[in-house]
Amino acid sequence: GKGYDAHFRVWRGDAAGGELVDYTVRVNEGEVVLDIIHRLQATQAGDLAVRWNCKAGKCGSCSAEINGRPRLLCMTRMSTFAPDDVVTVTPMRTFPVTKDLVTDVSFNYRKAQETPAFAPPPGLAPGEYRMAQVDVERSQEFRKCIECFLCQNVCHVVRDHEENKEAYSGPRFLMRIAELDMHPLDALDRQRSAQEDHGLGMCNITKCCTEVCPEHIKITDNALIPLKERVVDRKYDPLVWLGRTILRR
Ligand code: SF4
Ligand code: F3S
Ligand code: FES
Repeated sequence: GKGYDAHFRVWRGDAAGGELVDYTVRVNEGEVVLDIIHRLQATQAGDLAVRWNCKAGKCGSCSAEINGRPRLLCMTRMSTFAPDDVVTVTPMRTFPVTKDLVTDVSFNYRKAQETPAFAPPPGLAPGEYRMAQVDVERSQEFRKCIECFLCQNVCHVVRDHEENKEAYSGPRFLMRIAELDMHPLDALDRQRSAQEDHGLGMCNITKCCTEVCPEHIKITDNALIPLKERVVDRKYDPLVWLGRTILRR
């Protein structure tokens, strides 16, 4: 194959601080950025920390930033770059650094915990669930999420705004709430909770989340905007919500 020597610049450090370190490293035809990071580990940076698992774009572990853009390391082909480009690899900026390219993404797990699970009406046993196919299909897209948290990382509401993290759950979890709100058998008041507990109003639909999603989920158009529209329609009238909940049984 047509190999070449690439110029990589990788952020090395930990919670106390760090710096970009330059490496010259071999690239072979057909390789992805994660292959090059592994070659660095094997040849000249044995203690370089990177999180990965599947190398197939499905586990969501290898999220980082390449030349400032949030990407999966295993899905970014080296052929994206010219052989004389400098390829700069840095950890996701929105989450605290653990070491090198590994960040502490527990913010996301806290937000997941704060999102109550699917809640069917009391008295309905699992075998009694009935749903129209159209309702099944509406939220199918959202279930492709691999929880890479690239959307959470890129959203400007929390990127460089630590102070918003308490009030704002971010696109991945607002999308999860939208999915549950679309579920005809879910009995919780997801719209009120989206607005009051998860900061739906802080999203001003810039769509950066949608642009970086490796699963090409239309987060903004199909989850966040429809959820915002339903919240506005309802005008926070609990009787409207109660009426709709009873009628859709
Ligand atoms: Fe990743 Fe897309 Fe899921 Fe966000 S919605 S966590 S970008 S797969
Ligand atoms: Fe953020 Fe996406 Fe809304 S990037 S502001 S969640 S549209
Ligand atoms: Fe699993 Fe990249 S290693 S998504």
